[in-house]
Amino acid sequence: MTEPTKFWAVVPAAGVGKRMNADRPKQYLQLNGKTVLEQTLLRLLQAEVFSAVSVAISVEDPYWPELPLASHAKVVTAAGGKERADSVLSALKAIRDVAADSDWVLVHDAARPCLTTDDIHLLINSLVDDEVGGILALASHDTLKNVQGRSILGTLDRSHIWRALTPQMFRYGRLKSALEAAEGNLAVTDEASAVEMQGGQPKIVEGRPDNIKITRPEDLALAQFYLEQQ
Ligand code: C5P
Repeated sequence: MTEPTKFWAVVPAAGVGKRMNADRPKQYLQLNGKTVLEQTLLRLLQAEVFSAVSVAISVEDPYWPELPLASHAKVVTAAGGKERADSVLSALKAIRDVAADSDWVLVHDAARPCLTTDDIHLLINSLVDDEVGGILALASHDTLKNVQGRSILGTLDRSHIWRALTPQMFRYGRLKSALEAAEGNLAVTDEASAVEMQGGQPKIVEGRPDNIKITRPEDLALAQFYLEQQ
């Protein structure tokens, strides 16, 4: 008998978040009584679909071992890497003995704590029968300019432009080999770009605009507002 397909979550959480200008990495800033990382992990655990959540943490991180979730039965800790893609690959390797190549992996940024259970289920339900997989994304409402220096070279056709969010959902085996093939390539800033380089055409699934990535100081207040609204 073949095993049913499992779902795994991978959370790269080994960044330093320089643009926050804070005294600690942004995933450890406080948001509604918990750290950003705890809020993010709780969103994933509450969806009740994942066999485990593999979290990539910097080896010099003193904050992670202090969090109760670090010893949660469904949370696996992996060593973070130099770039985001290295951290994701490390988190994938940490579950290599339990995950099958055909299982689905949802990679989600630690810095996106406003992800809803609805969006997790929407992504899974939209892509579970897909050949390649895909990502949550948002249509661009702004007019977008191609700029060199301070000069506009042209205007992009925004009907074709989408902003990539997370989670990004791919089969374990395909994602791992795509990231291995892309190692050291700084153009790989998300999982989809690694799969695209292998010739894959990931799908987009329209996500919610409140699934923001905390990047700058003002984003924390916005995330707090969204969590309260949800
Ligand atoms: O810096 P940025 O917001 O693009 O990072 C996206 C996610 O990737 C964050 O959750 C961050 O912690 C993670 N990351 C990582 N390892 C790195 C760099 C970033 O896990 N070397």
